[in-house]
Amino acid sequence: MTSTTSGTYDFIVVSNRLPVDRVVGADGSASWTRSPGGLVTALEPVMKQNEGAWIGWGGQPDLELDPFDSDGIRIIPVALTALEIEQYYEGFSNDTLWPLYHDVIAPPSYHREWWDSYVEVNQRFADAAAVAAAPGAVVWIQDYQLQLVPKLLRGIRPDLTIGFFNHIPFPPYGIYSQLPWRTQIIEGLLGADVIGFQRVADASNFQRAVRRLKGYATKGYQVEVPIVDASPGVRVYGEIKRQGSFRTVVARAFPISIDSASFEELARTPEVQERAKQIRAELGNPRTVMLGVDRLDYTKGITHRLKAYGELLAEGKLSSEDVTLVQVANPSRERVQAYMALRDDIELTVGRINGDYGTIAHVPISYQHHGFPRDEMVALYLAADVMLVTALRDGMNLVAKEYVACRFDDGGVLILSEFAGASDELKRALLVNPHDIDGVKEAILQAIAMPKSERSARMRSLRKRVLEHDVSRWSRDFLDVLESRAHHGSEGHRLS
Ligand code: F6P
Repeated sequence: MTSTTSGTYDFIVVSNRLPVDRVVGADGSASWTRSPGGLVTALEPVMKQNEGAWIGWGGQPDLELDPFDSDGIRIIPVALTALEIEQYYEGFSNDTLWPLYHDVIAPPSYHREWWDSYVEVNQRFADAAAVAAAPGAVVWIQDYQLQLVPKLLRGIRPDLTIGFFNHIPFPPYGIYSQLPWRTQIIEGLLGADVIGFQRVADASNFQRAVRRLKGYATKGYQVEVPIVDASPGVRVYGEIKRQGSFRTVVARAFPISIDSASFEELARTPEVQERAKQIRAELGNPRTVMLGVDRLDYTKGITHRLKAYGELLAEGKLSSEDVTLVQVANPSRERVQAYMALRDDIELTVGRINGDYGTIAHVPISYQHHGFPRDEMVALYLAADVMLVTALRDGMNLVAKEYVACRFDDGGVLILSEFAGASDELKRALLVNPHDIDGVKEAILQAIAMPKSERSARMRSLRKRVLEHDVSRWSRDFLDVLESRAHHGSEGHRLS
């Protein structure tokens, strides 16, 4: 696409998935329902106050649809073929980048045809944004599926202010450097004016990769990018710097959050509180209810958690009469081999634990392989005495924040992996290394035995953080920095 014709939207969000799901009724008619993520809640007001549009994939193959409005948001669908879903989404995004960026917990696969598809699809998203954006518009690109879009978009529309936020970790250079296309990805990201990461460590990993692969200088949050680049770059960079023709890109942490107040509000409704009591009763009113809520993903440490719990039951330190673990495992990326293998592994382990330590009246694990509506999730959070988040690596982990936001009663204990981004903020959780099974077992016993006064003191401090730092604050912080870049010298649109 070479046209520089501009569109009418002043604020554009670009993400792999649209914030709406397509539902086909029994009569074959299709409609769209809003998916309940925090991102759309946070950005909705900005979308409505400015001429806003959301660009993304509709979640099914070959959906060629015209733009439409959904609850006041302009939706611009991008179509993917079945082959692109296989190569760009399941392949390069979720079987190359996902395991690589999560510390190679599973081995990443490197296939050149997957990369070609990733480039092609990123170009399609960039073209869609270039057509839709008004002169000087602000465009905010989300996540690892679209890392080439900033550079591709800047190439077509240099008038735009471009932000990028990486929702998952950015790995240390020793791991990142495995990627055959490591330089192209860095160049893709540096097309943005502001690049946001979850943790300070992610931003430093990125800056190190920039220094190693491009030789550009970094200072604090800033990366100096020559306006005219030439490979291999380092020598030329020195000259360009002397002439002063470079632009600065901000690369720093902006830890994401949730719509905390709306979770608390739901938790305070009598219906949800009643449902929480009912859940405990349905579980046989055990003394302790423990809860795990995860996408069924190998990064979440579900098997580590089960191992720790199984050992405590085997050693007689816990019994199924006293404790029940409710494990919600939301189906995810089910056609990717590593996810199929993980499901088998988890379900085998759950079956064994329930078979070995259950009684007719009590099963140690209530395993749910499906999602729940938000009010049921909140009831589960209220019903749970102990919340287990044992991710081996996680960009943030919003489930931990949701649990905390719901506990307006200052009850409940959060066990949180130090490898989840949330542990940077939620320091008064019981922090664990999920690889240390004995450590996880101790934390479980400590959580169960924790005196009420300590539980409340810890929960109060966690709640303060989550309620003060919600997702609107996150988006405001990011957009403020992005806008300040827009007014650095050009005629950017000012968001209202
Ligand atoms: O942040 C991680 C992420 O991949 C998001 O981009 C995505 O919305 C979510 O997890 C669920 O993944 P998927 O879209 O692959 O089902």
